[in-house]
Amino acid sequence: MTESISSLTRFLDELSAIESQAVPEIGAARTADDLEALRVRYVGRKSGRLSALSGMVAGMSAADRPAAGQAFNGTHKRLQEQLAAAAARVLSTGAAATPAIDLTMPGRAVWRGARHPVTIVIDEIADIFREIGFTIALGPEAESEWYNFTALNFPPEHPALDMHDTLYLEGGGLLRTHTSPVQIRTLQRYTPPIRVLVPGNVYRRDVFDASHAPMFAQIEGLAVDEGVSFVDLKATLSHFARRFFGAATTRFRPSFFPFTEPSAEMDVECQICHGTGCATCKMLGWVEILGCGMVHPSVLESAGLDAERYTGWAFGMGPGRIAQQRYDIPLLRELYDGDVRVLGALGQ
Ligand code: DAH
Repeated sequence: MTESISSLTRFLDELSAIESQAVPEIGAARTADDLEALRVRYVGRKSGRLSALSGMVAGMSAADRPAAGQAFNGTHKRLQEQLAAAAARVLSTGAAATPAIDLTMPGRAVWRGARHPVTIVIDEIADIFREIGFTIALGPEAESEWYNFTALNFPPEHPALDMHDTLYLEGGGLLRTHTSPVQIRTLQRYTPPIRVLVPGNVYRRDVFDASHAPMFAQIEGLAVDEGVSFVDLKATLSHFARRFFGAATTRFRPSFFPFTEPSAEMDVECQICHGTGCATCKMLGWVEILGCGMVHPSVLESAGLDAERYTGWAFGMGPGRIAQQRYDIPLLRELYDGDVRVLGALGQ
């Protein structure tokens, strides 16, 4: 009896010694590896300190065994709980340092890019003209003075030829100031009937203001055949305006260009101020979107065509200004600054 009491007592003392040693160590563990080492040391099935102690139970009297077993199970359970709690703590602090991967989280949206508003407008305009028999023609941005000015009937003293307006290239040539030189290139290459649309970039030594930029897009149109008249010009451009601007009002004004006679300009009611006047329309309430006219006979002749036989009409428009109107962009430069926050919001 005395023996068994002392062996039970020793057993219980030993159990509580293990527990009081293990608990602070588990509490101090910082990593999953620390915890695993502690688990093996204290509750490991083969060589853990509790397992080693469990051998003592077999040598006890039948009367002591239940108390010993109960105490053993209690300690074992508490240590397991301590290890589980510590494991949760280690995992969550570890997660703060290296975020755990949450596979249920939605993916990050990928910036897919958007078409530039000016490109959208050019495509839309091209579609409208393609429907009525126009095809697309392109020409070089580095041009000769002859194509850009001379063949288009600019007199040699014309102010547009001035260094202040045109960007001349070293070693001759210039950056085209408009898409009109492609009229000459097209007329030289094809025989009428001709109906082309020419989108492209043009360059001018312009100040950068609300509606001007040193590089901007233009779209040229040219229709040449026998018996083409101003009626065709007006009907076609009015059809375009109705298709593109819908209810917005447009108007034609007489104008002057060296390469057309007679010449006109088409305005659209400013869509930014709705005609009341603002910086974009320079307080006019109208924005000029294109110049047009009957192709000057000397232009046809420069390209080698018989001006007695053929007549034609042409136009040049600014898709940048049209995009400003369509997308309510007060400053033209916003279209050319390349800010994706602006362009991505406008584009589709
Ligand atoms: N080339 C002119 C410009 O850049 C625009 C223009 C006006 C083109 C009348 C034309 C036209 O074809 O007929 O300002």
